[in-house]
Amino acid sequence: MDIITDTKLDLPLVRKGKVRDTYQLDNNLLMVASDRLSAFDVVFKEGIPHKGAVLNSLSIFWFKLTSDIVKNHFITNAIPAVLPAFLEKRSMIVSRAEPVQLECVVRGYITGSAWKEYEKTGKVCGIELPKGLKNGSELPHPIFTPSTKAQKGHDENITEDAARKIVGADTYDFIRKKSLEIYGFGKSHARKSGLVLADTKLEFGSILDATGHKQTILIDEILTPDSSRYWLRDEYEKGNTVSLDKQFVRDYLEKTGWNKSPPPPTLPADVIENTSKRYLQAYKMLTGKELLTNETTTPTAQI
Ligand SMILES: Nc1ncnc2c1ncn2[C@@H]1O[C@H](COP(=O)(O)OP(=O)(O)OP(=O)(O)O)[C@@H](O)[C@H]1O
Ligand SMILES: [Mg+2]
Repeated sequence: MDIITDTKLDLPLVRKGKVRDTYQLDNNLLMVASDRLSAFDVVFKEGIPHKGAVLNSLSIFWFKLTSDIVKNHFITNAIPAVLPAFLEKRSMIVSRAEPVQLECVVRGYITGSAWKEYEKTGKVCGIELPKGLKNGSELPHPIFTPSTKAQKGHDENITEDAARKIVGADTYDFIRKKSLEIYGFGKSHARKSGLVLADTKLEFGSILDATGHKQTILIDEILTPDSSRYWLRDEYEKGNTVSLDKQFVRDYLEKTGWNKSPPPPTLPADVIENTSKRYLQAYKMLTGKELLTNETTTPTAQI
């Protein structure tokens, strides 16, 4: 499978995100997951082999499993034959929605930006947490910690009241409830697969249903290693955090002393390969299937 860091299809381009290129396809959207990697909101020059296919295939896996919790935008992964073959595995056709302007983050464990906030204030998004938590501790129960959807720059954690004002009370209550349910489902499936789902970010959007009523559905991606933190469960139980997600790259970048502003540094080949293996391993553990059935891969066990 080629590494794809950019696409130029003969279709109207709706947007180029950090990772996905989205095109208009009839009345729907064609979402193409590239192999681009972003860390600290900066997109790197190098692609990560198979990353787009993992994100796309894993999202489809979860969209199908969770559709009775909440409706989602997935329509099909059968891409019209007139479109280029490289789109296969990395693309899906989805319903176009009006994105709800909130990043819906659920955390069952405290780490990342929430850990930094807790260290300073004892709270996360205005929620008081027990004293004495460590980086990586499991929380007494999962918490919903919304953040802004910044057009530019970094998303910021906000309080429940602020989030309610942005999206309205009804939408807020709905997306909070559904986010917690999806996280709970994902956490328990991940656990059975040998993983800890530490946290995740979901996006919702509104569509008009057949009767013209506004409906809020899940959009974007779901429970992927880009939108979530996955840790190996047996290592976690021994007190080690081994991440099958972007954290490996973030940790490498922290060590280089890079100031997290563009231009991004060049990623060494071993960091690229190791990241690719981690994404493929997350896919395999969660779905019980190899993503690459017709290709020879190096074993994923040693990371
Ligand atoms: N069904 C949908 N309808 C409309 N927009 C969608 C839908 N699903 C996802 N999107 C939007 O498409 C974009 C997906 O691209 P990608 O994940 O690369 O973006 P991102 O870099 O994470 O987001 P951004 O650039 O907005 O910060 C996101 O902005 C997301 O909100
Ligand atoms: Mg995104």
